Amino acid sequence: MVSSFISPLLLSLAACLPMAGAGNPGFVVRLTQNGLDYARQEGMRVLQQELAKIHIPDFSGSTHTHLGKVKYSFNSMTIRNFQLPSSQISPVANVGLKLSISGAFIEINGQWHVKALHISTKGGFDLKVEGLSISVGLKVGSDTSGRPTIGLSDCSNHISDVKIHVSGKLSWLVDVFRHNVDNALRKAIENQICPLVSNAITSKLEPLLQTLPVTAKIDSVAAIDYSLTGPPPVTADYVDVQLKGEFFELSHRTTPPFSPPTLTLPVDHSLMVYFGISDYLFNTAGFVYYSAGKLVFNVTDNMIPKEFNIRLNTSSFGVLIPQLSKMYPDMLMKLQISSTLAPSLNIKPGNVSLSPKLDIQAYVILPNSSLAPVFLLNLTTTAVAKVTVNSGRIVGNLDLSRIQMDLKHSDVGPFSVTLLNVAVNYYLSQVLLPQVNQILNKGYPLPLLDKVQLTDVVLQPQQDFLLLGANVHYGKAENSTWVNKF
Ligand SMILES: *[C@@H]1O[C@H](CO)[C@@H](O)[C@H](O)[C@H]1NC(C)=O
Ligand SMILES: *[C@@H]1O[C@H](CO)[C@@H](O)[C@H](O)[C@H]1NC(C)=O
Ligand SMILES: *[C@@H]1O[C@H](CO)[C@@H](O)[C@H](O)[C@H]1NC(C)=O
Ligand SMILES: *[C@@H]1O[C@H](CO)[C@@H](O)[C@H](O)[C@H]1NC(C)=O
Ligand SMILES: *[C@@H]1O[C@H](CO)[C@@H](O)[C@H](O)[C@H]1NC(C)=O
Repeated sequence: MVSSFISPLLLSLAACLPMAGAGNPGFVVRLTQNGLDYARQEGMRVLQQELAKIHIPDFSGSTHTHLGKVKYSFNSMTIRNFQLPSSQISPVANVGLKLSISGAFIEINGQWHVKALHISTKGGFDLKVEGLSISVGLKVGSDTSGRPTIGLSDCSNHISDVKIHVSGKLSWLVDVFRHNVDNALRKAIENQICPLVSNAITSKLEPLLQTLPVTAKIDSVAAIDYSLTGPPPVTADYVDVQLKGEFFELSHRTTPPFSPPTLTLPVDHSLMVYFGISDYLFNTAGFVYYSAGKLVFNVTDNMIPKEFNIRLNTSSFGVLIPQLSKMYPDMLMKLQISSTLAPSLNIKPGNVSLSPKLDIQAYVILPNSSLAPVFLLNLTTTAVAKVTVNSGRIVGNLDLSRIQMDLKHSDVGPFSVTLLNVAVNYYLSQVLLPQVNQILNKGYPLPLLDKVQLTDVVLQPQQDFLLLGANVHYGKAENSTWVNKF
């Protein structure tokens, strides 16, 4: 529960240096005023605990009165209550964030001890430090690993009043040196506040920011680079954290042959955080898996549901292509389906689709297990993608809407490809697609800090990017599911 200081903030602090090569980020996290306010609330809880660690030193002194020299000491002071009832946070364009705390108060108990002439007396006191205001400037940046950073750029504080109430015999004596007590306490407290604020930032907030998964490993092939492209730009209304948002191949990283589009996030800021997920993220995924040779699938007869009567063998196919069963009587077949181009996602307002180009190479499996190529089809398909968010992951599901197919090459003589429509449609939609969807259903992780969950998720395809808006909940992971379809 410790590390909650300004968690959503961290999200958005991720960063955007305009210097890093290709310019545009592939992924933007926008923290709105609502998000900053939520972060502030969470942060205040932590800060309150930190500030309650103020150590109030014993102090003593002497003063001259009409009774002669009076020696006093105050000791055993403990903080009974420390409240930060009112605070504000606001982004300051091109600078960072400003946190203002006002009306804070501290209640302290302690013991006093006075010696005057031959009298020695003591009692207890209650002290209330009122009207404590703290002003904190925060600078946001990024480190060399591409993680967001936050630091104190300035800090000041002021106490408007110290009220002391003493009890015990001769407590009136305390009035004599009330002024000294007041000054000593102010100084002791004022000197400790900014160092404690600074400590809260380095010990609680910075470590939380360091939990940004700048490299999110997906599988044995690829990972997503979520590092900041530079220090987050701050405007008067929001903080944008700009991330690379790029898939890369773990074994050898190459530069994708295309760059991210410009993302223009809408001005609606009613939710705490908005993610702009550009088509670049998805297209680099397509590029990486295609380049790694992973977009190749085999279909064999044992994968085809029992109830479907066009089996993947030459007897079955021989009904459609008689030459096939003549050349290879009653043998099993195998299809190799491969993407002939890196697939790319087409994101438009209200619609996410892709049009992969596929080749299907058909083989006959000979009795000695070697493969004899029999024909090659080329296909253009259109698939509509449903994208949702589930437990902090972007999850997809494809639906095939159209298949066009041509015979590219035949080793068994010419035949009409339309005869194969029913079979190929079935194999693609009932055998290949479920495999692809199984992968897409696992999804990709969003760049979230530890213990940050998204609620009230809204997902909207915009031109060239997905806009994901959400509120943030910081706390123990509950593994709740938030799904939003469009
Ligand atoms: C598909 O079949 C080919 C040829 O038999 C084989 O080399 C390849 O490893 C198979 N691919 C998969 C993903 O099973
Ligand atoms: C091919 O499929 C037919 C059903 O269409 C079946 O009767 C036959 O046994 C199958 N042949 C092989 C080799 O699996
Ligand atoms: C989405 O785009 C696909 C491909 O461009 C198209 O077939 C489909 O009708 C579109 N759907 C909507 C709701 O616009
Ligand atoms: C398998 O059988 C075919 C045809 O009978 C032959 O051409 C091929 O060389 C054989 N392959 C192996 C690996 O034995
Ligand atoms: C198949 O490939 C040929 C030649 O490359 C091309 O002209 C044709 O449009 C392709 N057909 C489909 C359905 O993609």
